[in-house]
Amino acid sequence: MTGHTDVMAIARNGVKYDSRSRMQDARKAIAASKVKQPHVPRPPGPSSLSLANALILRGESAPLVFERVLREHNGLAHFGRSGNQIYLTSSPDLVLEVFRTQGRYTIKPPVLQSSRAVLGEGLLTAEGAHHLRQRRLLQPAFHRDRMAIYAEQMVSDGLTHIADWQDGQAKDICTDMSKLTLQIAGRTLLGADVSQEAQEVSKALNTVLANSTSINQPLSVIRARLGLPPFGETLRAGDELDEILQRIIDQHRESGDTGDLLSMMIASQENGVGMDDAQLRDEAMTVFLAGHETTAMWLTWTWLLLAQNPHQAQWLYEEIDARAGNLPSFPDIAELPRTRAILAESLRLFPPAWMIGRRTQKDMSFQGWRIPAGSIVLAPMWVLHRSPDYWEYPAVFRPQRWLNSEGRYSERTTVTHQGAWFPFGWGNRRCIGDQFAWTEATLLTALITRKWRFELTYPDREIVPEGNITLRPKGEITMTWRRR
Ligand code: HEM
Repeated sequence: MTGHTDVMAIARNGVKYDSRSRMQDARKAIAASKVKQPHVPRPPGPSSLSLANALILRGESAPLVFERVLREHNGLAHFGRSGNQIYLTSSPDLVLEVFRTQGRYTIKPPVLQSSRAVLGEGLLTAEGAHHLRQRRLLQPAFHRDRMAIYAEQMVSDGLTHIADWQDGQAKDICTDMSKLTLQIAGRTLLGADVSQEAQEVSKALNTVLANSTSINQPLSVIRARLGLPPFGETLRAGDELDEILQRIIDQHRESGDTGDLLSMMIASQENGVGMDDAQLRDEAMTVFLAGHETTAMWLTWTWLLLAQNPHQAQWLYEEIDARAGNLPSFPDIAELPRTRAILAESLRLFPPAWMIGRRTQKDMSFQGWRIPAGSIVLAPMWVLHRSPDYWEYPAVFRPQRWLNSEGRYSERTTVTHQGAWFPFGWGNRRCIGDQFAWTEATLLTALITRKWRFELTYPDREIVPEGNITLRPKGEITMTWRRR
């Protein structure tokens, strides 16, 4: 890792663009998004104290706590926290209304605004006209033709990664899958020659992310100015990230299209205008962050489910073994319905982005309750994907539900209410990388299953889902690698 520089190369509108300015922007965005709310009758819900008690003091799992709260309050619960009026819902009708129909009149909630300290004005955090422009500029990088190029890289990196595996080795599956998807994200998104830097980016990213939500706490500006923990470390890590990304951007500007996503972003223009370095930095950071951790968790939960359901694993092996040892490739994806069904069922039960939220900017009403502008609506897909109202045998791992009568993968056959299935979100903010993630997860599952399976080393140990930014198993999950 190169040392900390005093002068950052990146500027926006002539002003130095660094972690300090991003942190201030994040605080301003959170403050600006707050609206003084009228006193209206609100649906019942838990007290903020009892929630904080469960989540912080007792260390309970947030997805499980929210599931319990929604069961106790019939799918709509209210609670307030530091001036924010929060509506927690498991009603698919309200989900569609807020995220799809009224999506244009909502913005991201404070917890996502705080990640501007890391992501700046990237696609995940940008709003309004700026978001629309960026979405148009980024879209070509996710076009089907590009996906075929990324797919080759994914299989090649997958092969390199598994070449080191040993029969009988036991280790944490999350760490292994994260290494694999990080490597792939580094290569496919940021460029083939930066895999070493990808590790550095990830380390610094973890430091910054771990502390990004603290920026909204009292005295954070003063503490940041004095370089006190956690801000001194956070700002240093943020500046290191900027330096690495600026170097990668400079290299790309020199070398032209190298087939990765960043080259495509550099080439992308609207009305003859492309992205400046500050914007490229934010988008590169955003796709890198959004593009590896989620897929790593998707694969991790899939291996766990297969280990717990050996007859379903056998059902998958039949599809993979019928391919006579061929390496999977992009055109094969449509011919792997069982692999896709297994992955869809894993997304249903353990959605990596387990909850999404919005701050409303227009008054809404639902079931006779007024939801005034400025409210925060949270939709835990963890709860909706497991609702007995919309899924048969909701708690059972049953991938066959995703196949139609001809044995093809089909969401239409399975999903009874559109608002009860949204692993990649909804509407104008739907995940731009969904096809990238599907391509990667399908190819890696098929590639790994050709030769390997995983056993739970401690099958009696309870697996608890932990809902932070992504849904991860709590603690390490040791699995034993078995050659098939
Ligand atoms: C299992 C894998 C993934 C899951 C479950 C997932 C989930 C999501 C969800 C739920 C959203 C919407 C967030 C919201 O509405 O607040 C989202 C947005 C986004 N995702 Fe993904 N994602 C995955 C993989 C990826 C990948 C591979 C990339 C990039 C290569 C990516 C890039 C993004 C970006 C840039 C956005 C913001 C889109 C916008 O606001 O216009 N994601 N993702």
